Amino acid sequence: MSSKPISDTTLPNSTHGAVDVILDTAYQGISPKNWASLFDLARKSQLPEFIANLFAGEHVNQSEDRPALHSALRNLSKTPVILDGKDVMPAVTDVWKRMEALCNKWVGVTDVIHIGIGGSDFGPRLAIEALAHVPKLESRGMRMHFLANIDTAELARILDKAQPNSTRVVIVSKSFTTLETTMNAKAVVAWLKAHGCTKGQISKALFAVTVNIPATKEFGVEEDHIFPFWDWVGGRYSVWSAVGLPIALQYGFKTFEEFLAGAHAMDLHFKSAPLEENLSVIMALALLYQQQKRDVKAYAAIPYADALDWFPRWLQQLDMESNGKSIGMDGNPVKYSSPVVFGSAGSNAQHSYFQLFHQGPEVIPIDFIAVRKPMSDRPEAIAHHRILLSNCLAQAQALAHGKSDSNPNNVYPGKRPSNLLLLPELNAFYLGALLVLYENRAATLGALWNINSFDQPGVEYGKVLAKPIEAALSSGSSDIVANENIDAVTATRINLLNS
Ligand code: F6P
Repeated sequence: MSSKPISDTTLPNSTHGAVDVILDTAYQGISPKNWASLFDLARKSQLPEFIANLFAGEHVNQSEDRPALHSALRNLSKTPVILDGKDVMPAVTDVWKRMEALCNKWVGVTDVIHIGIGGSDFGPRLAIEALAHVPKLESRGMRMHFLANIDTAELARILDKAQPNSTRVVIVSKSFTTLETTMNAKAVVAWLKAHGCTKGQISKALFAVTVNIPATKEFGVEEDHIFPFWDWVGGRYSVWSAVGLPIALQYGFKTFEEFLAGAHAMDLHFKSAPLEENLSVIMALALLYQQQKRDVKAYAAIPYADALDWFPRWLQQLDMESNGKSIGMDGNPVKYSSPVVFGSAGSNAQHSYFQLFHQGPEVIPIDFIAVRKPMSDRPEAIAHHRILLSNCLAQAQALAHGKSDSNPNNVYPGKRPSNLLLLPELNAFYLGALLVLYENRAATLGALWNINSFDQPGVEYGKVLAKPIEAALSSGSSDIVANENIDAVTATRINLLNS
C-alpha cells in the first residue's frame, strides 16, 4: 500500500485566487498533462460559449425555453442586461429601492416569520445563520423564524415564541402554489386572527416575494407588500432577489448590498477569467476528473466554520436539483451527472463520517472550506481558531497521503482527493462570493455533462401522487384497494395509518 503523497504529481502551482478567495487543488492528484487535457475538453465542450450565453440571457434553460439570468440580480454595476429587447435592470433596481425603504420603515417588529421551502428557504436561512456572529456586524435583533416544513412541529416551535402583535410575515414562493408554503401561511394568518389581530392589522403584517402576483393578491397580500421576481430566476438561484429580504431586514440593506457585491465580483471573475484561472471551472473539472478516474458517486463539502453549517444543505439543492438528471440536453442518456452531495461543519463532521472518508472503499472528493480570521471576538477565539484550522489541514493531508501499517486495520489507503477553499473572513461579501463560486461551478458541470441545470422536472411526480394519497388518508377508510394512483404496497400503508 503506497503512502506516497499524491501532491507529487500535481501542478507546480496549485493555488488560484479570485475575489480574495483562494482555491488550492494540490491534493487532487491531477498532473499538469491531465489538467491540460481537462481544459481542452472544456473548450471542446464549448464551455466559453456556454458562459457567454448564460450571461447574455440566451435560453440556456432549454426545456422551459427561458434564460437563467440570476446574475442580473446581483449586477450592482447596473450595466444593461437585455432580455427580449428590454433592459431588466430598472425592474431589479426598483425592487432594491423598495427593500431598502422597507428596512428603514420597520420599527418595533419583534418577530419575522419567513415562510418558504427549498430555494425559497435555504439561501436566506443560511445567510441569517452565517452572519449571526460576525464581529461588529449590526443586527436589528428581530427574531427571524424560518417556517418551511409542513410538519406542525416547526410551526408550533415558532408560534410559541412569536409575539402576534409585533410579528411580520413574509411569504416566499416563486410559484405561490407550493402546498407547504400556502398551508403554513394560512396557519400563521389563523394564529394572528386567533390572537385578536384585526383584518387591517393582518394585511399590515403580511408581505410576499413571488413571481405569481395574481395568486398572491388572491391570498390577501396587498399589492404594495408584494416584492416581485421573475421566471428567469430559478428558485435555487433566488437568494439574490427579494427572497433575500431577511438578510436586509436583519442586518441592514447595506449588508445585503455587500452580499450582492461579493456575488457580483465572483460573477465577473467567472465571466472573464481564462479557463485555466477560473475557480468555478477548475473545481468542476477536478470533480469530472475524479468521476472519470475514480468512479466517484458522492462528494462532500465541509466548512470549518460552524456558522456555515447550513451551507451543505443549500449546496445539496443547488447541485442535486440542478444536475441530478440522467437525460442530457440532446435527449440522450448522459454518462455523468451530479454525485450525491453532503456535508456539515467541521470539526464536528470529523467525529461523524470521516472514518469512511479515510478507510471506506469509496473515494469521496471533499471541499475543505476554511476561513482565515476567527469567527467571533471571544477571548478564546484565536486559540480555538488555530485548532480548527489545524484540524482542517490535518484531515486533508491524512486523506491525501494515507499511512502504511503492518496491521491492515490501521492502513489508510490515501490518494483521497480534496480542494482547500480559503476565505479571508466570513462576512456578507465573502459569503456572497462563496455561494456564487458554487452556483457557477454547478452551471459549469451542467455544461460539461450536457445537462440543463435550470429545470427540475423530477420533483413533480411525487407531488402529483400525494394528492390521491391525501384524499385516501382523509377518507379515514381502512379498506383502500390498489388503483391507478395507489399501488398495493401504498394501499396497505394507508390502511395501516387509517386503522
Ligand atoms: O419542489 C422543488 C421546488 O420547486 C424547488 O425548485 C423550489 O425551490 C421549491 O420547490 C419551492 O418552490 P416555490 O418557491 O415555488 O414555492
